[in-house]
Amino acid sequence: MQNGINAIIFDLDGVIVHTDKYHYKAWKLLADRLGLYFDESVNNRLRGVSRMESLEIILENSDYARLSENEKTALADEKNEKYKEFLQSMTPEELSGEVYDTLNALRERGYRLAIGSSSRNARLILDKIGLGGFFDAISDGNNIINSKPDPEVFLKAAEFLSAKPEECAVVEDADAGITAAHRAGMKAAAIGDAVRYGNGDWNLDNFAALADIFK
Ligand code: BG6
Ligand code: MG
Repeated sequence: MQNGINAIIFDLDGVIVHTDKYHYKAWKLLADRLGLYFDESVNNRLRGVSRMESLEIILENSDYARLSENEKTALADEKNEKYKEFLQSMTPEELSGEVYDTLNALRERGYRLAIGSSSRNARLILDKIGLGGFFDAISDGNNIINSKPDPEVFLKAAEFLSAKPEECAVVEDADAGITAAHRAGMKAAAIGDAVRYGNGDWNLDNFAALADIFK
């Protein structure tokens, strides 16, 4: 165990599995239909952010920003339907052996493992990649009011695990998620896009590096 940490909370999209590429494809289809600019750098701003807040970022500085709430909800639903079509084609092969082996190694060492994701599709994704029953707790977009950088999703995960915040570490690919972890009173390991901001307590070159930190 590492410095009193006995629980690890994983972000899902972009950490456990690369559903971030499906978010990108689904938002890109919507943005193209509306004639709005969208690229990987805009997509990076959506990491960890809720569906409706993501839509606001895509519509910002355009006439669509003044649409009614109902019209915006219809656009978010349109994106989600496309996104779910991509999710339906996912199989357990999208879960890498590296992630699977590292999760099992951490569990064997006695760590409790949870998901802390802003997504309302988290359970569907976990089912699709064969991890439906794997985690000790799942805190997701369905049990929070405020998404990252608010700490709510991680505080709920700790509560579901019956763990204190200081016993938990977070693994995140979103800088907003690193901020959320710190606001929750938790240490945070940055992976992928989050590394370049330099705000993590640890920077991971790859998922397997977790096994060197959490012994
Ligand atoms: C987060 C993603 O995990 O979930 C965000 O990083 C996404 O990009 C958010 O907007 C909400 O996802 P969903 O599946 O509820 O639309
Ligand atoms: Mg993520």
